[in-house]
Amino acid sequence: MRRPVIAGNWKLFKSSVEARELVGSLLPLVNRTDTVDVVVAPVFTVLATVRDLVQGTNIRLAAQDCFWEEEGAFTGEVSPKMLVDAGCSHVIIGHSERRQYFGDTDDTVNKKLKAALAADLIPLFCVGETLEEREADKTFEVIGRQLKKGLAGIHDDLVSRIVIAYEPVWAIGTGKTASNQQAQEVHAFIRSVLCETRSRTIAESTRILYGGSVKPENIRGLMSQTDIDGALVGGASLKAESFASIVNYGG
Ligand code: PGA
Repeated sequence: MRRPVIAGNWKLFKSSVEARELVGSLLPLVNRTDTVDVVVAPVFTVLATVRDLVQGTNIRLAAQDCFWEEEGAFTGEVSPKMLVDAGCSHVIIGHSERRQYFGDTDDTVNKKLKAALAADLIPLFCVGETLEEREADKTFEVIGRQLKKGLAGIHDDLVSRIVIAYEPVWAIGTGKTASNQQAQEVHAFIRSVLCETRSRTIAESTRILYGGSVKPENIRGLMSQTDIDGALVGGASLKAESFASIVNYGG
């Protein structure tokens, strides 16, 4: 069985005081959850603060991005090794906002995935189509390309450690969730690509999360789909109560 992952992407929100408050309220609400991997992804500057708060608990720490070099003259960047040093076990890679606003491409995403895996981080590898691409019937073509290029040259043993997040760009922060069927269809497609390009074992064991306006009201329907193994949550992860009810979707 694939163990579900519920990850909160805090994006560019939460000062250190606010992060303390959020984690302080979240911990008692999710500390009995032992059937789901719970992950939070704060901004770089509060990683160490959150690390100290979640140490010894069931909450794992993720960064929202990383660079691919270990060190060097790369002003403003943070390497996977430094994220491990700051207490991270996970890192989000290829989020559509990075692709849209900060120049991430399938090639740089591939380099970041390789570097994160080399540092023993678990990547949350994001793929997703824009509204234009969906309307032009290019969803599978786009997702197929993002997957193949993103995973190019990565050994099967390492691919099996990656968590994939399907996030349709048109559903992110818009309040417009993909229907359970729309999400399931793409998740099944992602699994079929993994089966074709890797193996049935990898396809069956890889966890595929859905992201895009996930809320307490829609998590159960999404999680009831065969190929949906969790969620990457933006807006609803900024409040302890809503994130906790997503984490505790199982009751
Ligand atoms: P949202 O963001 O839940 O606010 O739509 C999801 C994401 O961008 O990961």
